[in-house]
Amino acid sequence: MAHVPRPRTRQLAMYQRAIRTLPGGTDSNFRAWGEDTVYIDRGKGGRIWDLDGNESIDLRMGYGPAILGHADPRVDGYVLERMQRGVSFSLTSEDEVAAAELVCELTFCDMARLTVSGTEATMHAIRVARGFTGRDRIVKFEGQYHGVHDYALISVLPADVSELGDRSEPVRLAWGRGIPAAIQETVVPAVYNDLDGLRRIFEREGEHIAAVLIEPILGNAQGILPQPGFLEGVRAITREFGALLIFDEVKTGFRAATGGAAELFGITPDLATYAKAMGNGYPAAAFGGRRDIMEMLPAKVSHGGTYAGNRVAAAAATQVLSILRDTDALETVRRNGLRVQAGLSEVITRRGLPHVFTGIPAMFGVMFAEQLPPDYRGWADTDHDLYDAVATGMIARGAMPEPDSREPWFMCEAHAEGDLIDRVVSIFAESLDAALEARAQA
Ligand SMILES: Cc1ncc(COP(=O)(O)O)c(C=O)c1O
Repeated sequence: MAHVPRPRTRQLAMYQRAIRTLPGGTDSNFRAWGEDTVYIDRGKGGRIWDLDGNESIDLRMGYGPAILGHADPRVDGYVLERMQRGVSFSLTSEDEVAAAELVCELTFCDMARLTVSGTEATMHAIRVARGFTGRDRIVKFEGQYHGVHDYALISVLPADVSELGDRSEPVRLAWGRGIPAAIQETVVPAVYNDLDGLRRIFEREGEHIAAVLIEPILGNAQGILPQPGFLEGVRAITREFGALLIFDEVKTGFRAATGGAAELFGITPDLATYAKAMGNGYPAAAFGGRRDIMEMLPAKVSHGGTYAGNRVAAAAATQVLSILRDTDALETVRRNGLRVQAGLSEVITRRGLPHVFTGIPAMFGVMFAEQLPPDYRGWADTDHDLYDAVATGMIARGAMPEPDSREPWFMCEAHAEGDLIDRVVSIFAESLDAALEARAQA
């Protein structure tokens, strides 16, 4: 069937208007896709509509937050009711106490503080770890993104992995200009799933390392999974050298399981950060952990925020976390992911191509490769050009994953509705055929 391009007139006009005031025409570098930048009108459940009225099945879900689905009436109705009492007092409401209680009930945390973004959550967790240990350096893993503050914007997602240097001696690769050299030196890059490398780092400079900051699943590199024993090893090494273990659960929290990746893998970190699924799209985030560490606040470590715990976010978090605790929403999300994977697997196998799924059904990637890569460097060996062509083709046909293979597909509860999953699979099949045909003709 010939593919008919969908209209983009209004979005192109909006792009021309937006680039006059917003650099790149957007508020985030991650959504600056040039003339392909998507301008959104609305979303409902697992679907979104752009400014030209084109409908797409959403597989980005806002980079993960909309775990239940867009504009969920259970959440929005509750938030609306609470926000009519006023939203921002810089005084503490019951909503934020209730949200923090739920974070602690569902996770390993004894105490938590709310923030407005995942960036803030990781920034503050790092500071608390430094305050607690009296040490400055932070180990982070290549291919992991922990937000836009300066403290971990090192060796994130270079397209050319040779820039990361020798794997036995990874270099510090700052992402963009403007990150002070002195701060860069506090970040120690490590290779994911490489315990020997991590041990070498600790043997070399362990007395300076405050914490290992890790996304338990490499969520920003297609959801590459920890190999058996890796997280256990990281836990043991941090304990041995008196450093803290911080799980960045901004993507995995309240998605991988109600208790996040910590629960899924049965590893208890010292601190963790949450955002995304916690608010179903409202800007709710948190950091929390062991009581003796969190009690560095308020006397010994700085943390604040005019909007920290604001009523809109706190009410959203209270409602979303209650839903995740009291219903089988996360099981539905998981089943949705399994159904999509089964459909994709059949399509790809029929065309005789190697493929593997990364991540977990709620947040997965599909790689055209024989084997799962263990780390970000391994992503470069997969046929990601084919993936990118398929993803771009899907967007043009009405299902929207990120047009970059490194970002996983995010499933939501509402993807179970109607024929959304079947449509995703058939759009994938058409897009794969088109990409293979274009490759054959090139
Ligand atoms: C693992 C991880 N940590 C932190 C962040 C930053 O969160 P935010 O965009 O809310 O600042 C992200 C965002 O994608 C993330 O994926």
